[in-house]
Amino acid sequence: MIAVPDTFTQTTLEREGEPGAAWLAELPGIVDELLECWGCVPDGDVTHGGVGVIVPVRRRTEGTAVLKVSFPHPGNVHEPDAFAVWGGRGAVLLHERDDENVAMLLERVRMSTLAEVEDNDEVVTVAARISRRLAVPAPPGLPRLRERADAWEEQLRRDAQELAHTLSRHVVEAAAATVRELGGIQPDVLIHGDLHARNILRADREPWLAVDPKGYAGDPAYDGGTLLTSRALTLLAADGLGKAAHRTLDIFAEAAELDRERVRRWAQLHAVQAAFRGRRHGFRIARGGPRLDGLTEFADRLAESLTERT
Ligand SMILES: Nc1ncnc2c1ncn2[C@@H]1O[C@H](COP(=O)(O)OP(=O)(O)O)[C@@H](O)[C@H]1O
Ligand SMILES: [Mg+2]
Repeated sequence: MIAVPDTFTQTTLEREGEPGAAWLAELPGIVDELLECWGCVPDGDVTHGGVGVIVPVRRRTEGTAVLKVSFPHPGNVHEPDAFAVWGGRGAVLLHERDDENVAMLLERVRMSTLAEVEDNDEVVTVAARISRRLAVPAPPGLPRLRERADAWEEQLRRDAQELAHTLSRHVVEAAAATVRELGGIQPDVLIHGDLHARNILRADREPWLAVDPKGYAGDPAYDGGTLLTSRALTLLAADGLGKAAHRTLDIFAEAAELDRERVRRWAQLHAVQAAFRGRRHGFRIARGGPRLDGLTEFADRLAESLTERT
């Protein structure tokens, strides 16, 4: 039986409550069953991300691989669909899937992630090139981001009214205009959906490969916004947030071969959404206290500085 890491147990219990406890109790049994079914033996320490455990394994046909089992949540169900479409181009290979258990057997790459690279320009360039590679036609059956546009707009209105915040009307209006003008007409292109540096791992077959996709169909420029907001701590450390943010956008748009203005508008929307989400729910890396205030303030400033073209 595998030992589930304590930190993973704790965060799952905090986030999911009783259903989380029930799932955690079953998890070692699920892992054993899948190891048996796929002819794998454990090969190293179990690790984890936010929602899944990763068990390094060996298998006769592939050699090294990892077994990923995620908490059953609607946001996790299209991950194997995305891997299957990419077929190893820009992302790890999918060897097996068991949708009922939200489990996959994946190509094992190195444990080191793009988040360990210090140079922000390099991080953004690598992520953008991966984003470009992943932008292929999306099959039917994946969630269309354009179908969420109405809900996004409604949420923006509600947040702006209900929450105590200091974002100017102009900033919130710009975000709402992005949803109206770009949100509803997105193409059927497969996008990662959670593109940040910890979801890009060092590999040998290609220098870097993506893991942990949401598998959405939508505008590839959306991922630029996800990446930019995920760089909060790095951008905060830079002198001149506005300048650093715009430079990050320039680099991303060029390396991802996307329209700069489109990337800016999506990033501005992400920043406004983050500013509101932080006030409602906190962030995964800060649920309260001065750290949350600092990140919320960062999201405000980022939203503000991305509202103007440069
Ligand atoms: N294919 C893989 N090969 C090696 N390590 C992996 C692989 N997939 C995930 N990992 C490790 O596990 C961590 C969490 O994986 P991830 O798929 O991002 O889970 P989560 O959905 O919980 O965020 C990664 O940051 C990485 O360290
Ligand atoms: Mg992850």
